[in-house]
Amino acid sequence: MTSIHTQVAIVGAGPAGLMLGHLLHLRGVDSVILENRSREYVIERVRAGVLEQGTVELMIASGVGDRLRRESMRHGGIYIAFNGRRHHIDMEGLTNGRAITIYGQNEVVKDLIEARTSTSRPLFFEVEDVAPSGFSEAKPSVSFRKDGEHHEVSADFIAGCDGFHGVCRTVIADHLQVYEREYPFGWLGILAHAAPSSEELVYSNHPRGFALFSMRSAQVTRLYLQCAPDEDVNQWPDDRIWSELQARLRTDDGWGPNEGEIFQKGITGMRSFVVEPMRFGRLFLAGDAAHIVPPTGAKGLNLAMADVSRLAEALAAFYSNGSERLLDEYSDRGLRRTWRAQRFSWWMTTMLHRAPDQNAFDYKRQVAELEYLVSSRAAMTSLAENYAGVPFDIPDL
Ligand code: FAD
Ligand code: PHB
Repeated sequence: MTSIHTQVAIVGAGPAGLMLGHLLHLRGVDSVILENRSREYVIERVRAGVLEQGTVELMIASGVGDRLRRESMRHGGIYIAFNGRRHHIDMEGLTNGRAITIYGQNEVVKDLIEARTSTSRPLFFEVEDVAPSGFSEAKPSVSFRKDGEHHEVSADFIAGCDGFHGVCRTVIADHLQVYEREYPFGWLGILAHAAPSSEELVYSNHPRGFALFSMRSAQVTRLYLQCAPDEDVNQWPDDRIWSELQARLRTDDGWGPNEGEIFQKGITGMRSFVVEPMRFGRLFLAGDAAHIVPPTGAKGLNLAMADVSRLAEALAAFYSNGSERLLDEYSDRGLRRTWRAQRFSWWMTTMLHRAPDQNAFDYKRQVAELEYLVSSRAAMTSLAENYAGVPFDIPDL
């Protein structure tokens, strides 16, 4: 067995764990990052695409924003479609210039892995049997196996950035309160080699179910279809996907998505999930390990980034002056942001999807809500403010 000592043991090399390691490094705080998947798997995992301005500012301020600045797409608005028409929400105009940025989560992860490997600080992929312990006292440690050998990292703190299926929330489950809702639908998502036919995202409520038009670049369109939560992707040959997307997205003015070769397909379930508090002893949870939102509000990655920005600040303050004040405030401040995002994501999801037990009344009520939304400056401002996101406290780096 080998033993390593560090200041912060970080479990998970998704956006939360990698950004936390990076922000700590910039403040001279050491960490070890442990990830159970391979580097290729982590980089290629296709997920989010919408970054709030706070996430973009954090990446730029922390020196990992060069490629983002060159390759991303800034969007000042979105479209909401229903009853055959697209309606523009001028987010930028309604929020004093705030916007979202399209840049794939896998690109964010790639940039952060590159930043990490350019430091001499450890990042281990393909580790097994990760087991945190000692966090209720002042002696936390994480044991794991790598290439068949047993290792142990002793640390001052453990950061559980290991996503919804990770181990860190599980080991403190007895000390947490869970708030949860599962939705009776999922999303079938595809990437296609097709030039985006709209400059901005289109969220569509259609009697056949929800659909979303998004993109990754000038050559790649990202599209989603509401489906059953346990849908079998093999039941969805490319022709069926395109005809369903055209049926749900095409509007009366002739607009619809361009078609092209589909090179990635995946199904995702939808849930809302929060644990309180986001900490037990010296183990702190961040990102999807602590909360899940349905993707309709595009908030998950952004919440993860806001968490680790606060956690890095709090840990840096502890190491610079011994103060635990920010560590003690970490959970309450995070939960306020989380519940705001939960409310918004739930609202977007229920307004735009078709529930299996929905009847004609429910559909008429949704349409009335959408009609009010696109005709009221106050209602559009509420959507725009929440979609653009609450500004982050960007630390001085
Ligand atoms: P993760 O990305 O899940 O990372 C956790 C890491 O921990 C993983 O690499 C995992 O392999 C590793 N791990 C797990 N268990 C262990 C273990 N035992 N030991 C070691 N490592 C472990 N969010 C947005 O903000 N905008 C969007 O547009 C958006 N769209 C989405 C679309 C889809 C289809 C989906 C599925 C999600 C979307 N999200 C979006 C949500 C976003 O992808 C997540 O919120 C984000 O990945 C959270 O980052 P994280 O680092 O907390 O967790
Ligand atoms: C995406 O581009 O992957 C995307 C966009 C908006 C969402 C969710 C995902 O709400």
